Amino acid sequence: MYKESTNAVVKHLINRLRDVRTASNEFRLTIEEISRMIVAEALADFPTITTNINTWQGPLDVEMLEVQKIVLVPILRAGEPMLTGILQTLPYARSGFLAMKRDEETSLSKLFYENIPDNLEDKTVLLLDPMIATGGSLIDGIDYLKGIGAKRIISLNILGSPYGIQKVQEVHPDVDIYIAQIDERLDENNYIRPGLGDAGDRAFNTK
Ligand code: URA
Repeated sequence: MYKESTNAVVKHLINRLRDVRTASNEFRLTIEEISRMIVAEALADFPTITTNINTWQGPLDVEMLEVQKIVLVPILRAGEPMLTGILQTLPYARSGFLAMKRDEETSLSKLFYENIPDNLEDKTVLLLDPMIATGGSLIDGIDYLKGIGAKRIISLNILGSPYGIQKVQEVHPDVDIYIAQIDERLDENNYIRPGLGDAGDRAFNTK
């Protein structure tokens, strides 16, 4: 299943990202904001646990998200602002990291660093990758997480192409995708059009 946001605020923020006058600091903050909105959609029905808290009138049993069952995994580097944003909403969630680099010639991604919490079997992994272009890095990231035991993976994304989303769904139909915006197409260089350029470069002013 994939779900594209229909929220007008999300669409507004996506168009801020497209604008080249949006400098890297604002770009990252905007990714953080969109990510918080997307995670709220993705976890709308997530299990809760009765927790006793101290309120201004004394102890009270309330329903809280089972945050200890959530692991956030950004695909570096472009996924980093998504992690920063979501950790503001879920500060007690655990985080792991996957670093992948796309080969500009072949558009294939290569894993060169990983550090993931143990015991993924009973967790929900929220995989954070802003751009689904060919779907390659996301498919590789999901392959890796399943290989080390992940049973439930939700993909949170900012911008995607119809081609990339279809590919990910073909290979991993059990992974739900929550995405802010699906654009028109991939171009001949595997960039998303109209897109926003290279998300990592935009976020960190690399080029
Ligand atoms: N990665 C990006 O950052 N942008 C694209 O358009 C495609 C892949």
